[in-house]
Amino acid sequence: MTIQDKLAELRHSTLEKLKQANLEKSKEIQDLRVEVLGKKGSLTEILKGLKDLSAEERPVIGKYVNEVRDVLTEAFDNANALIEEEKIAMQLASETIDVTLPGKPVAVGNRHVLTQTAEELEDIFLGMGFQVVDGFEVEKDYYNFERMNLPKDHPARDMQDTFYITEEILLRTHTSPVQARTMDQHDFSNGPLKMVSPGRVFRRDTDDATHSHQFHQIEGLVVGENISMGDLKGTLQLISQKMFGEDRKIRLRPSYFPFTEPSVEVDVSCFKCGGEGCNVCKKTGWIEILGAGMVHPSVLEMSGIDSEKYSGFAFGLGQERIAMLRYGINDIRGFYQGDARFSEQFKG
Ligand code: DAH
Repeated sequence: MTIQDKLAELRHSTLEKLKQANLEKSKEIQDLRVEVLGKKGSLTEILKGLKDLSAEERPVIGKYVNEVRDVLTEAFDNANALIEEEKIAMQLASETIDVTLPGKPVAVGNRHVLTQTAEELEDIFLGMGFQVVDGFEVEKDYYNFERMNLPKDHPARDMQDTFYITEEILLRTHTSPVQARTMDQHDFSNGPLKMVSPGRVFRRDTDDATHSHQFHQIEGLVVGENISMGDLKGTLQLISQKMFGEDRKIRLRPSYFPFTEPSVEVDVSCFKCGGEGCNVCKKTGWIEILGAGMVHPSVLEMSGIDSEKYSGFAFGLGQERIAMLRYGINDIRGFYQGDARFSEQFKG
C-alpha cells in the first residue's frame, strides 16, 4: 500500500467509526483519538514512510497528510460536541426543579446606631423649628478656632489638638465652626437663627474604650432678640426628656469655653437609678451629656451681628456619648469596626 492509500484508509475507517458517536461510546472515542492522532498514533506511524519518498512526491503527500489530519481533528471535535449535547439533554431530562421550595432569605441591614441617634435628635429639633445644616469636615483654622474666639496663640487651643493639613487648613476638632458659617449667612429680617449641625469631628487622641480620634457631634445654635439662658435651659431640658425619659431633670454647672460666656456643663439626672447613685452615674446621680453656653459677644460681632441687639445660646453634644449611655455600650470602638453583630443589636 502506498502512503496515500494508507492515509485514505485511515481517514475512511476513522470517519466510519465516528459516524455513530454517542454518549455511551464517549470513552471509546477518546481512546480512538489518541490511537489515530496521538503522538504515537497511526498517523504518526504512516508519516514515518515520508522519508522514503522522492523530493517531488514529498510536498504533495505532505499536503495530503495535513488535509487528512484537519478532517479527522474536526470529526473528533464534532463527535465530542454531539456527546456533550447528549449529556446535557440527559441531565435536563432527569432534573426536576421544585418551584415550591422556600427561597434563601436576603439579609436585611439596618441604619447605624449613630445615624439613628443623629436622626432622632434632628427630628426633635426640626419639631422645634430648627434647621439642619451641614458643615465641612476639612475646615479652615479660621473658622475652627479664630472665629470661635480662639486666636492663634490662645492657650485653650491645647484642649483640642488636631490633624493639620496645612497651617491654615485642618480636620475640624468640633462642629462649632458651623456656627460662624451659618451666622455669616443669616438674614435676621427673616426671624431668629435656629440650627443644628451633626457631623464628624477629629482630634489627636489615643484610641481606647472611651476615646477615638474621630467621633460625631451635634452642634446647636439659636441667635435672636432676647434669647436668654432660660431658653437654653428649656431647650436642653426637653431634649434630655425626649432622649432619656420624661422624668429626667437637668442641672447646669459653670464651665469654660472660649466661644460662650457664661459657659456651662450640662448634666442629666441618671436614667438608670433616677438620681439615687449607681454604676452608670458613678454614684453621683448625674451624668454629664454636653457643653453649652450663651454665645460670646465677640463671636456674634465677628459675624457682623450687633451683640447689643442680639444674643444667643449654643451647645455641642457627642453622638457616641449619647448612644453609649442610652444603650449601655461600653467600648466606643464598636461604632467603627463594621462588625454586623454589633450593628444588628440596634435594629430600628
Ligand atoms: N465645641 C465644644 C467641644 O467640642 C462643645 C461645645 C461647648 C459646643 C459649648 C458649644 C458650646 O456650642 O456652647 O468641646
